[in-house]
Amino acid sequence: MTGNIISVDGFSSTGKSTLASKLAEHYNFYYLNSGLMYRIISHFALNNGYIINNMIKESQLINKLDDLNFDWMIDNKGNKCLSFDGKIFGEEMYSFEISDIVSSVAKLESVRSFLFRQQKKLAVKKSIVVEGRDIGTVVFPDAKVKFFLSADLDIRTMRRNKQIEENNISFDSMKVEDNLIKRDKIDSERKIAPLKKAKNAFEIDTSKKSQIEVFNIAKNYIDSNFKF
Ligand code: C5P
Repeated sequence: MTGNIISVDGFSSTGKSTLASKLAEHYNFYYLNSGLMYRIISHFALNNGYIINNMIKESQLINKLDDLNFDWMIDNKGNKCLSFDGKIFGEEMYSFEISDIVSSVAKLESVRSFLFRQQKKLAVKKSIVVEGRDIGTVVFPDAKVKFFLSADLDIRTMRRNKQIEENNISFDSMKVEDNLIKRDKIDSERKIAPLKKAKNAFEIDTSKKSQIEVFNIAKNYIDSNFKF
């Protein structure tokens, strides 16, 4: 049903998006950011009154989601990208408001099973690099190549601050580290599909490595062990 799958899982702000998108470009695969899907659902819930005072109205949210779909679209630069309900979402999905609630939304079984189905559908007949938390363990346990990224908390905080600054994202810089700690905790401790390294995943600690170094390590690992 699918072509070749490369999974890139790991903690928040460890460089998953950079590595996954570079690998997709290099091997000419599709690139799927599953974290963005959880963020878009959180944004949708916040905007439509399904989250009030941090309380998520799960059954109402999921009823509404059943009529909506993620799909592939071509953006105005000609790149393949993800759309939800026919729209493309960008850096505004990384705001404090969404980052603060996303892990609570991602804990819900109904949301996970909705996105599991959507992720499977997006990968049909495609070779694809998918980044997230449970990709190599739960969503695509048969992925041909699996990576797991980690990095020290202070480095991750610095990187997230830089992303926030460069993209003009609305985020209180004092809250960046706390948000990473909070999400790591919820993501690792949840019952369904917790963040963990797949047994056969290749781990890269990105703390002291540049983006190019991480990419080269991943590419060398793929080229010496797998054939597409
Ligand atoms: O990757 P990113 O940091 O944007 O993901 C945002 C949140 O989405 C994570 O903190 C996690 O709660 C959730 N997520 C998940 N499973 C995935 C991808 C993301 O639970 N596969």
